[in-house]
Amino acid sequence: MRIGNATFPLGTALAPMAGFTDASMRLLCRSLGCELTVTEMVSAAALCYRDLKTARLARLPADDFPCAVQLFGHDPEEMRRAAAMIASGEYEGACSACAPAAIDLNMGCPVKKIVSAGDGSALMRTPSLAGEIVRAAVEGAAPYSVPVTVKIRAGWDESSKNAVEIAKIAVEAGASAITVHARTRAQMYAPSADWSVITAVRDALPKEIPVIGNGDVTCADDYFRMKEQCGCDGIAVGRAALGDPWIFAEIRARSKGEPFLPPDEAERRRTAYALAEAIVEAEGEGAAARECRGRIAHFLKGMRGAAEARARLMKVETLAEIKEILGV
Ligand SMILES: Cc1cc2nc3c(=O)[nH]c(=O)nc-3n(C[C@H](O)[C@H](O)[C@H](O)COP(=O)(O)O)c2cc1C
Repeated sequence: MRIGNATFPLGTALAPMAGFTDASMRLLCRSLGCELTVTEMVSAAALCYRDLKTARLARLPADDFPCAVQLFGHDPEEMRRAAAMIASGEYEGACSACAPAAIDLNMGCPVKKIVSAGDGSALMRTPSLAGEIVRAAVEGAAPYSVPVTVKIRAGWDESSKNAVEIAKIAVEAGASAITVHARTRAQMYAPSADWSVITAVRDALPKEIPVIGNGDVTCADDYFRMKEQCGCDGIAVGRAALGDPWIFAEIRARSKGEPFLPPDEAERRRTAYALAEAIVEAEGEGAAARECRGRIAHFLKGMRGAAEARARLMKVETLAEIKEILGV
């Protein structure tokens, strides 16, 4: 798969997840073979108002390449300005060690607060505005040669599955790749993503526009199954990677015909602690240690004593407590 100047031999991506896919998590997944990372969603409006706290979400560390910065918004002018700020790499609040590989536009977020403002998956219901948003971002990023990609859902609800229409509009407006989360907004994150929507989008777009499939890829087998079934160029893994970033290592090993040795419990605990350390280093103790509560708990899934450890994790205030619970 190719987006702009970046190539992705296996097309593996970490799906953007607000509150989870910060730089620490992105670097961890990258170290295990993930080829494309995406930041958490960043408000185009907040960037235009120079909200420095928001802008920090768009900061890319030196080793996080290729990484796309994801923007959300519904105002084309704000989107144009925000895309230019991020693509230039010079915006004070988000000054990055490396340039973004792409600006990714969020047309999938189902959260009520976002949707009621006309952002995220609400754009699936306003196709012409969706097209204007893409065109504006493309114009904003073009002087810096940064491509624009778009992440969509299957549609708003079962009676309005219009992923193919929106994908075509986005490409017409200059999008360089489309990620399809194969659920409707009404489905939120419930099981049973409809992968046939990914196939339909792949079939409808020109071959040179990569399509990244997403939804219910829970193990390496699912990666191979989705690629085969949908013919898509890339695959974005969401929740499965939260406690099992080794999914990328397994995909890489099996693609090369090499054996994959799953991490033992000690390695999973060590990795979870290293992630907690990185989060705390980036954000400072206190709030960051509390932020680790839900995040580190994902790594304990399936371990003996996980329920008790998870309950203790939910109360931690310091990195030292996390260390003690993980036993590392
Ligand atoms: C906690 C959480 C936060 C998310 N945040 C974002 C986001 O900021 N931007 C986005 O495009 N999608 C977001 N998503 C959706 C994921 O990128 C992905 O499309 C979804 O989880 C389906 O993939 P999965 O079945 O592999 O988890 C989020 C999902 C979760 C669970």
